[in-house]
Amino acid sequence: MALEPDRSRRMRRLRASEQLRSLVRETKLDISKLVAPIFVRYGSNVIEPVESMPGISRYSVDTVGKYASSLADLGISSVLLFGIPKNKDRTGTQAYAADGVVPRAVKTIKDYASSTTVITDVCLCEYTDHGHCGVLSGKSVDNDRTLPLLAKASLAYAEAGADIVAPSAMMDHQVMAIRSALDSHGNNDTAIMGYSAKYSSAFYGPFRSAAGSKPSFGDRKGYQMDVANKREAMKEIELDILEGADIVMVKPALPYLDIISEARNRFDTPIAAYNVSGEYSMIKAAGKAGCVDEDTAMIEVLTSIKRAGADIIITYHAAEAARLLSSGAD
Ligand code: PBG
Repeated sequence: MALEPDRSRRMRRLRASEQLRSLVRETKLDISKLVAPIFVRYGSNVIEPVESMPGISRYSVDTVGKYASSLADLGISSVLLFGIPKNKDRTGTQAYAADGVVPRAVKTIKDYASSTTVITDVCLCEYTDHGHCGVLSGKSVDNDRTLPLLAKASLAYAEAGADIVAPSAMMDHQVMAIRSALDSHGNNDTAIMGYSAKYSSAFYGPFRSAAGSKPSFGDRKGYQMDVANKREAMKEIELDILEGADIVMVKPALPYLDIISEARNRFDTPIAAYNVSGEYSMIKAAGKAGCVDEDTAMIEVLTSIKRAGADIIITYHAAEAARLLSSGAD
């Protein structure tokens, strides 16, 4: 329907009150679609603030259950776990150890907050001494030697009770390798959320200092996507769906809203967007500097991600957003 100039048309009519604005509001954030990332670390009785991410802490296995249940009380019923092991080695052994921090945290969270959906990140970078996402052959990450290790890690998490495993290593065929390992061990009901379109981004900086996962040499450009590419993202997503991903992801979120939107138009699979550490810390820093109102900026960013087409938003703002949304803010 083409708009014609018409002096009687006044767009401001429906903006006159909060009630009217709310009546015609097109996008509404839903607390149940927010996922809170959690850093789980070795040790006991630890709640250790992450310096690069104000408001976020690392939890030891014995403190994480209580934290997950406090999130559940706020309405945050999904969490995404990242492990920080005591010892790192060449092949990331602790990523797939059955008694590693993540499998133990999964069990504890299920004890404390039984209806919380537990998603586990599947990658080697937090567990390798070189900080790359897979095993090395010389100076490069060996795709096919990494696959069985990602599969083994997924299996350890699934057997501990994880509902969803989320491979983030950006190895080719990782979803297929994981699906087949899960199925051949009877874990047919464990879902896979693929980090399908994961870009090689500057916005992972605070996460890498939180998890101690900065590569010791080189960068991740040989496996994560080039920031300039959109068609390639569609291909990555399509391949993950074909390999068996139940949910696909675009990451980061804010600089990639066009990718989320295009993916929404093309695919019917649920889409998650990861509002990453750098996006979070930027708002915190700008708020602290008095440049923006933190709460308003946060809701604006999360709304933009939803408006672009994300079904699920993974965000470090989850708890504060839930508090704000249930107090009536929008
Ligand atoms: C592991 C992984 C990373 C993030 C999620 N999974 C780090 C990376 O790829 O370097 C980043 C999340 C964030 O920045 O919040 N590969």
